[in-house]
Amino acid sequence: MKILLTGATGLLGGAMAEAFPSNKHDLRCLVREDSPNAPRLDGKGVEIVHGDTRSEADLRRAFSGVDAVAHVAGIEYAPTVVSAMRAAKVERLLAVSSTSFHSRFEFRSRPKVEMEAVVKRSGLSWSIVRPTMIYGSELDKNVHKLLRFLDRSPVFPMFGDGENLWQPVYFEDCAKGACEALVREEAIHEAYDLPGSRPLTYNDLVKTAARAMGTNTRIVHLPIEPVRRGLELAEKLRLPLPVKSGQVVRLREDKAYPYGKAERELEYSPRAFGEGVAAEVERLRGVGMVRG
Ligand SMILES: NC(=O)c1ccc[n+]([C@@H]2O[C@H](COP(=O)([O-])OP(=O)(O)OC[C@H]3O[C@@H](n4cnc5c(N)ncnc54)[C@H](OP(=O)(O)O)[C@@H]3O)[C@@H](O)[C@H]2O)c1
Repeated sequence: MKILLTGATGLLGGAMAEAFPSNKHDLRCLVREDSPNAPRLDGKGVEIVHGDTRSEADLRRAFSGVDAVAHVAGIEYAPTVVSAMRAAKVERLLAVSSTSFHSRFEFRSRPKVEMEAVVKRSGLSWSIVRPTMIYGSELDKNVHKLLRFLDRSPVFPMFGDGENLWQPVYFEDCAKGACEALVREEAIHEAYDLPGSRPLTYNDLVKTAARAMGTNTRIVHLPIEPVRRGLELAEKLRLPLPVKSGQVVRLREDKAYPYGKAERELEYSPRAFGEGVAAEVERLRGVGMVRG
């Protein structure tokens, strides 16, 4: 099968580019010309086409002659992707959404619900995967920052009591699940949550990361409410802020998801956070991002 992959210079897409068996599939990657991570694809034996997922003309050119599209570079571009696929007469689509689809906070769930609806109404042979928070390399947006913080500070300030649940997924496990969802016929018109192996509390997540780093970290809990109220006031005053009050409130929401469907239908078998974070520490030490 000839597959067009978007987002191949990113955390998940990069791992997917490695996970598709090259003896079975040909990979073409749509890459922005100015992507700082384009060199990561050098020597991977993939075809590169330059383009931007916001441009339907770029997408049509990239989709020409492929059998399937694995769209990883943001479900917010689904309308353009679907339209370009119709024009290029490509039927099979894998779209990467997020488990924030399930959030009880509408500002988190609505964008995913709306974009998934575009995919589901497309008339294409679609599959959707929904990762939880993805970690595992210096490209992740969260755990690598936590590890670097733990490397520098003996104290970790935490909003709230830390008893809320997380279920982060190791990037290579998530990539494997996503690739399976694209190549399996029975995954057509199905959506799969792709979390890590088990939920753990925020407290345990930080303690497990600290153990992997070999640091003796003390967690200091900070109350959420005053911070939320301060942010809310700043929002009313239209002050520019790095975080929204809603994001702080969402810290209280459990982000734990069963994955029996992916286990049964995709042979999905993610690793435990302790194992994944130890691999990430080793990787960051290898590139000198945390001390050895
Ligand atoms: N990371 C998470 O914790 C997480 C959790 C749930 C769902 N997801 C979803 O999973 C997907 C992949 O996440 P990720 O963490 O791998 O993201 P990432 O590391 O930020 O990578 C994003 C990729 O998309 C490409 N891209 C972005 N905008 C583009 C555009 N306009 N045209 C062409 N390429 C574009 C980027 O290219 P450049 O190299 O040019 O920037 C990069 O290759 C996203 O859809 C994300 O919403 C992620």
